[in-house]
Amino acid sequence: MTVVPDSLTLGSLRVDTPVVLAPMAGITNAAYRRLCAEQGAGLYVSEMITSRGLVEGDEVTRKMLTFDDLETVRSVQLYGTDPVYIGKAVEILCAEHGVAHVDLNFGCPVPKVTRKGGGGALPWKRGLLAEVLEHAVAAATPYDVPVTMKTRKGLDDDHLTYLDAGRIAQESGVAAIALHGRTVQQAYSGEADWDAIAALVDHVDIPVLGNGDIWEAADAVRMVEQTGAAGVVVGRGCLGRPWLFRDLAAAFHGEDVATLPVLGEVKAMMRRHAELLSEHMGEERGCKEFRKHITWYLKGFPAGGELRHQLALVDSLASLDALLAGLDDAAPFPERELGTPRGRQGAPRKKVVLPDGWLDDTDGRGAHLREDVDETTGG
Ligand SMILES: Cc1cc2nc3c(=O)[nH]c(=O)nc-3n(C[C@H](O)[C@H](O)[C@H](O)COP(=O)(O)O)c2cc1C
Repeated sequence: MTVVPDSLTLGSLRVDTPVVLAPMAGITNAAYRRLCAEQGAGLYVSEMITSRGLVEGDEVTRKMLTFDDLETVRSVQLYGTDPVYIGKAVEILCAEHGVAHVDLNFGCPVPKVTRKGGGGALPWKRGLLAEVLEHAVAAATPYDVPVTMKTRKGLDDDHLTYLDAGRIAQESGVAAIALHGRTVQQAYSGEADWDAIAALVDHVDIPVLGNGDIWEAADAVRMVEQTGAAGVVVGRGCLGRPWLFRDLAAAFHGEDVATLPVLGEVKAMMRRHAELLSEHMGEERGCKEFRKHITWYLKGFPAGGELRHQLALVDSLASLDALLAGLDDAAPFPERELGTPRGRQGAPRKKVVLPDGWLDDTDGRGAHLREDVDETTGG
């Protein structure tokens, strides 16, 4: 059986626990990364930012490039389709923002993105993928910053790309490849295919990070045991449960910890999350940002409909405190929620939206794809 690793090496970067917080648009901002990092060691990746936005000095992109004071390892996910923009953006991240890890997004399933050949659509064009990766690695190498890529299995079951992507990543000097075991067509539906992760591990020599459907720390260990992955990437499982990173760190160091906070402890975590968002964004915006997390934190706990409704309208820390006071501190953690999906799920897409003629050739080297500045949907 595979030996479960207790750390992760990405080029020059050593991570004390082989656990990566999945980049999630609208979620993994500086406040959330700090909140998770307070729980345990790992690599905490930013929301996706666009290479064009960065290169052209777009204001929204610049604001997204915020780091917490205690964030010692700055890890950024970059989106792009143009090798030159990507190279320039990586250079800016390393030279001007002290970034220690860059991840490239080749997994986004959002039609607005795949329609332009970006995200999960791009690996179909093997030549273009190589160009993008080579430019990124060339820009990062003088700074000794590892570049990783994150992708899906392929467009759909008839157009798989992940094994080629792994080979190309390895040939391009990429430090690791993360695989979400779904196709673009599946979006977030169905179950992640961990066998594909195992197949990629067999196919390449660089570290493979397994992603998809890790809901508990035990799932992460099981994934590594089943697939031989060098580490795991955890997304939806930690929504409303930053303490999952404590359990994950323990699990990869041989301890079986399942944190089951009572509602009073969850309230304290909610308060901390809203406070950190307020520090980074100002109180009103921070509290509004916090709204989307409330359902996740309270999932399965007793809280009346009216209280939940009021919480969804929260716009200050004082109103949050007043509303949280109405919840029973002693309510036990709803154990029936353990191991169950949270966050986005939904249905598969009828078809993957692609640029005209996209499937006609698999190279795409030199292609000029439109890259928008404001592409922030992630996925
Ligand atoms: C709200 C949300 C936003 C996401 N944004 C991004 C993103 O910006 N970049 C990316 O590579 N993946 C993004 N993803 C995908 C996750 O990183 C991850 O691959 C996916 O959720 C599967 O992992 P999980 O089963 O642990 O959630 C997003 C997922 C969610 C739920």
